[in-house]
Amino acid sequence: MQPPFIRFGTWAAHDYHYPSNSLIITSKGAISRGWIDYLKIKNFSIFDKVEPNPSIETVEKIISQFKNENFSSIIGLGGGSSLDVAKFVAFKMGKKKIMIPTTFGSGSEVTRISVLNVDRKKTSFHDEKILADVAIVDPTFIEGTPMEVIKNSAIDACAQCSEAYDSKLGNPYTKFLCNTAFDILEYAILNDKFEKLALGSLLTGLGFGNSSTTLGHALSYVYSNEGIMHGHALSFTALVAHRFNNSVFYKRFESIVKKLNFEK
Ligand SMILES: [Fe+2]
Repeated sequence: MQPPFIRFGTWAAHDYHYPSNSLIITSKGAISRGWIDYLKIKNFSIFDKVEPNPSIETVEKIISQFKNENFSSIIGLGGGSSLDVAKFVAFKMGKKKIMIPTTFGSGSEVTRISVLNVDRKKTSFHDEKILADVAIVDPTFIEGTPMEVIKNSAIDACAQCSEAYDSKLGNPYTKFLCNTAFDILEYAILNDKFEKLALGSLLTGLGFGNSSTTLGHALSYVYSNEGIMHGHALSFTALVAHRFNNSVFYKRFESIVKKLNFEK
């Protein structure tokens, strides 16, 4: 499954005609970075306090703050955390979902998954009603992104597509998407062509979103619960998992981890 409408390309988020009277859900800095101006949205409300590794309480807070306002749509804008919160709020409120990633790794814009902290534990909610109605993937957002954010997102995408390639839930279609995604991501990382991460991440989301992640992600949650960033945790848990599983991606994944220079 995938969102019924996926738009990809440079300026895609700038050129889209957004419905008026939307609620934008994003993180601190969305306004100062010029993202809202770039979208040219008029008549909107905004919640810009989504935290990294967001909790279910953030979802509840947004719903109670905005429950009496009659929005046409909810626009999720930001990294995986903002999109996961926006998708879950829209799912609970029964609103149309427009998802715009500004970092490229989670693939959340095209998956039916929302990862939220419940009782301080990372919890993955899966429901087809969480899927976005519109996904807009615009590589322009990579400009000005700190390297720390780029590398944590990029390794997430690499782990997701390589794990999903090996998943027992995979099929020739998801394997094609995951394999193509890995080729694109690997090229982007090894050659410092980070704008290419946007397409790699989108294909990763479509691939693993229709199969599953596997051992690398399962192991990473233990570290996430201790406060280690998702990408950083995957740089060693997915590597160990690929070695254990004799993954065809093991050596290539190892080269990517080295290139991105993660701390041990
Ligand atoms: Fe992930």
